[in-house]
Amino acid sequence: MRGLRKIEPYIPGDQPKFSKMIKINTNENAYPPSPKVKEALLNFDASQLRLYSSLDNYNLTSALGKRLKVDSDWITTANGSDDILALAFQSFFNSSDPIIFPDLTYGFYSVWCELFNIPYLELPLNDQFEFDFDKIPEKIGGIVLANPNAPTGLYKPVDQIEQILKKYHDVVVIVDEAYIEFGGQSMLPLLSKYDNLYITRTFSKDAALAGLRVGYGIGNPKLTGVIQAIKNSYNPYAVDSISEALAIAATEDYEYYQKINGEIAKTRDWFIIELNKLGFNTLPSLTNFVLTTHPQQSAEAIFNHLKKHQVFVRFFPNKERISNYLRISIGTKKEMTTVIDLLKAFMAENNGGTK
Ligand SMILES: Cc1ncc(COP(=O)(O)O)c(C=O)c1O
Repeated sequence: MRGLRKIEPYIPGDQPKFSKMIKINTNENAYPPSPKVKEALLNFDASQLRLYSSLDNYNLTSALGKRLKVDSDWITTANGSDDILALAFQSFFNSSDPIIFPDLTYGFYSVWCELFNIPYLELPLNDQFEFDFDKIPEKIGGIVLANPNAPTGLYKPVDQIEQILKKYHDVVVIVDEAYIEFGGQSMLPLLSKYDNLYITRTFSKDAALAGLRVGYGIGNPKLTGVIQAIKNSYNPYAVDSISEALAIAATEDYEYYQKINGEIAKTRDWFIIELNKLGFNTLPSLTNFVLTTHPQQSAEAIFNHLKKHQVFVRFFPNKERISNYLRISIGTKKEMTTVIDLLKAFMAENNGGTK
């Protein structure tokens, strides 16, 4: 057959279905969404579904605007942050100069570049997995930074990213804040100062609504205008009315989310200490996951041991630099205690090292 497109897609983490598993492989939230979300779902008037959802999700952008102290006109909603990021790539990266992101970051960035024919350069993170901004060339088409980064979990302080916004003021810098609510500081206050800043966020992680598929982008009206023109060129009603109602309920219960995400941060910090007591080297993390490796044991053997006990973590055998690492999402304290107990048993069985 002629004319068929060839593309290597992004490979998401597995979604295994076992009733008693501990699923800590795709950075979903450990806790259920706010009870207000359930209430909104039960109270949703099904007769409303006859109508299309609102074109601009005004009620949701207003709720978000109020919460984030941003003008609602600066916010665009989409079907998960994957959708808003894909729109942003198409909207902002139309130069023949390469866009820049680290070699170890969210795997979808390079997939979108291939899909949309955007030239790109993956700059190697240093041995500590830090992004050295001095290595960015002069002539570029834009920058994409996940902050904190995935899968490393490392966070860059706002003032360092601000230097990039200043230096590369004539191209758009996308800051993907999928994990920002787990401890980092948002770039939001800099939006009015830098017209080349575009921030993306999601309800999938901190709002415990990965299954709802709602994400959003925030940028000045000029950037937002381009994003909306692209969005309205193929899927104007990306967020359906049920999702909008539920996302509003989540946005309005920030108190609940501060509580559960604070718990996750506490469990994460405890988990890192426990891992390191077992001899792991774990990167500092300001997210709801950690990236860890053991100098004597192979990641694959640990992965298989955990899987045998229905604990699913993420292992990247094909990513050379982290092929001996595991990325472990933070579950509840009880789940993470089980994980530590399983790792202790593994270490006891494999004292001589399996690597
Ligand atoms: C850094 C980063 N950005 C964006 C996303 C996409 O999230 P979603 O499409 O669920 O909003 C993910 C998901 O894992 C992520 O890790």
